[in-house]
Amino acid sequence: MIHYVDTHAHICEDVYDNDYDEMIQRTVDSHVDRIMIITLHEDELTRAKEIKRSNPAKYQIATGIFPTDVKDLKDGDWQRFRQCASDPMVDVIGEIGLDYYWEKDKEVQALEREWFVRQIELARELNKPIAVHSREAMQDTFDILKEHHWKGLLHCFPGTKEMVREFTKLGYYIAIGGALTFKNARHSVEVVSTMDERYLLSETDCPYMSPVPYRGKRNEPSYIPYIVQKMAEVKGVDVEYMANVIDDNWTRFLEQCK
Ligand code: NI
Repeated sequence: MIHYVDTHAHICEDVYDNDYDEMIQRTVDSHVDRIMIITLHEDELTRAKEIKRSNPAKYQIATGIFPTDVKDLKDGDWQRFRQCASDPMVDVIGEIGLDYYWEKDKEVQALEREWFVRQIELARELNKPIAVHSREAMQDTFDILKEHHWKGLLHCFPGTKEMVREFTKLGYYIAIGGALTFKNARHSVEVVSTMDERYLLSETDCPYMSPVPYRGKRNEPSYIPYIVQKMAEVKGVDVEYMANVIDDNWTRFLEQCK
């Protein structure tokens, strides 16, 4: 029996409002048996908790303050976030990190770094792993994750195979999504083909980043098999083996804080 994992899914976003039940049924049909729901707002977290209650083995929950949201934080937001993050139903702190693609202002970038570190330290205090978002900020991300070393994964990994080696040496897992299936995916292909399979994870980042043949359309967790199929091809293994390795990796990832 094959089991797939989606380690990064924004399924509480309203683009699924009209066909939520059908979308979830498709995950059942395609054997996407575990899904980590990413929540970036309190109302998303409330919804994610409802979903998790319906099937605790299937759903994991991550909650975090997204890098480009830090400039809008108000007094009291940190206390509220701490409370959300401490909820026993929250498994992972994320997605947190640095985004210099959407944020060019140097002062705000410095603020992103400050909030990234703050949330890593909270994750350590709560003994929960982190899910890291990094865009056009690879060196700063690496420096922070080295200095404030903690358990976690890098989502939608945009780096080179050399950088992957540096991150996995520190114990970080690497989640790869639909971009791997794109025609110009040379970097991701190199990353997947050379990296240690024990750190590889699959993700959709839905509703964004749909894999081929759905590129440009709304993404959803049931498309994970297209990504794992491509990973298996790149690594020269069969898809069942690849899915099993990722499933084991996800179990190990979640258990490292238990
Ligand atoms: Ni995301």
